[in-house]
Amino acid sequence: MRKTVLISGASSGLGKQFARIFAHEQYDLVLVARNKEKLMALKKQIEGKYQVHAEVIVCDLAQTNAAEDIYDVLCNQNITIDILINNAGFGDYGEFISSDLKRQKDMIMVNILSLVSLTHLLLPSMRQRKSGKILNVSSMAAFQSGPLMSVYYASKAFVLNFSEALHEELKHSGIHVCALCPGPTQTEFFHNANLQTSSSFYEKHISDPKKIAIEGYFQLMHNKAVDIPGFSNKMITAASKMAPRWLSRQAVTWLQKEKIGSHQSCPQQYNYNTKKI
Ligand SMILES: NC(=O)c1ccc[n+]([C@@H]2O[C@H](COP(=O)([O-])OP(=O)(O)OC[C@H]3O[C@@H](n4cnc5c(N)ncnc54)[C@H](OP(=O)(O)O)[C@@H]3O)[C@@H](O)[C@H]2O)c1
Repeated sequence: MRKTVLISGASSGLGKQFARIFAHEQYDLVLVARNKEKLMALKKQIEGKYQVHAEVIVCDLAQTNAAEDIYDVLCNQNITIDILINNAGFGDYGEFISSDLKRQKDMIMVNILSLVSLTHLLLPSMRQRKSGKILNVSSMAAFQSGPLMSVYYASKAFVLNFSEALHEELKHSGIHVCALCPGPTQTEFFHNANLQTSSSFYEKHISDPKKIAIEGYFQLMHNKAVDIPGFSNKMITAASKMAPRWLSRQAVTWLQKEKIGSHQSCPQQYNYNTKKI
């Protein structure tokens, strides 16, 4: 019997790539996000190409009880989740004081609370079966504070620390927990976070989401606790960990500040090779 993977935020970017990779590896899928059209198009494409089954659950993870609603659908349809990819998330660029509070709260709901809830709901059955895998998508942002994206950076620090703790708690249970910490990656994230004017967006230094998702897949399979894809990202993170905190927060401020006189376009239409996967 085929195993089943649940992927949150499967409608675009990294989530979409994870869906293709797991389908290629002959997993059935449960695809979760808000955009029904995009999820249905992905389901059609994947089922046609890989002959696996993809279930679509349209859900706003910013809503209270979203995870419980997803869990109810799974129970009603007798779907057992072998692998959980907690990938859904978004950021918001700007000073906290002038930010929209509802958006900050939604970010905490999606990036943190839905991830904790889905993990809590799906873990008992994994433990009973002495088998299961959970990949939590954190970020390089997790390793320092993030002036001008304060709630986002803090949310990713939560995901990193939560995942590491679970990795340790569950290490003799047959369950793998991995935190994936990508650097800037070519998805709709920059557009959705209004990062077009931030200096942190440089098209040249941005990773291919397919490569990041493949790396995440392999590191999860090899039970790695924390993965930072890419040599330069590993070096930047190591330097940031060694630097005094005042220096690393000033460096992030400098990195996030608005680009002067330049308005680079965002990679809304990204184009990468999906022939093999
Ligand atoms: N791109 C980067 O540079 C980068 C770097 C480090 C970490 N990350 C992390 O990678 C993860 C994936 O992001 P991405 O880069 O692939 O960006 P993306 O292309 O914007 O994808 C974000 C996904 O999250 C889903 N999502 C957002 N809000 C949601 C909500 N309220 N309810 C349900 N689903 C929601 C979106 O689906 P709908 O809009 O259809 O709901 C979409 O599928 C995020 O956790 C992000 O923080 C990204």
